[in-house]
Amino acid sequence: MTVLLSQLHSSCFSDDPWPPQAMAEIVAMIGFVGRIAFENEEAAGLALAQGIGEECEILALGVVPARRRAGIGSALLAAIVGECRSRGARTLFLEVAEDNIPARALYAAHGFVQIGRRANYYRRRSGHADALVLRLLLST
Ligand SMILES: CC(C)(COP(=O)(O)OP(=O)(O)OC[C@H]1O[C@@H](n2cnc3c(N)ncnc32)[C@H](O)[C@@H]1OP(=O)(O)O)[C@@H](O)C(=O)NCCC(=O)NCCS
Repeated sequence: MTVLLSQLHSSCFSDDPWPPQAMAEIVAMIGFVGRIAFENEEAAGLALAQGIGEECEILALGVVPARRRAGIGSALLAAIVGECRSRGARTLFLEVAEDNIPARALYAAHGFVQIGRRANYYRRRSGHADALVLRLLLST
């Protein structure tokens, strides 16, 4: 399973692949929540999160390039939100690069709001990009 997750993550995040060993550590974390989307029996996307107590955090959400803009990212996000809710979480956090327009649009459409910023958090070929910290209140 961790090899599949690692391959899928590499397809979705070609600039920052997570090797199988790193993926194995994530899957073994306390409160791990994961979903894989399949399309025509092929893995098309993944969502990885961790929930502890009243807080959940999305660690990765990605869809393979050929399957984007078909509702898979939205479905994965909804699945994670539902699972976190059912575990009793009240807030869901994530970080997204300020220059990641598709992801920011997806999260905004699901009701996430910005609550913070981490300067120069992501490395880019031409410098750095800030991370925006987003939050979704699950109790409302
Ligand atoms: C962000 C990502 C997960 C979206 O997945 P997706 O399956 O393409 O998203 P969906 O088809 O479910 O889109 C849902 C909504 O998100 C927004 N959205 C998605 N892609 C968009 C784009 N390229 N431009 C503008 N808005 C976009 C739209 O509001 C869209 O609704 P609409 O299609 O009705 O207009 C995908 O682009 C991806 O894997 N990117 C690379 C990895 C990544 O950056 N992950 C996020 C890390 S924080």
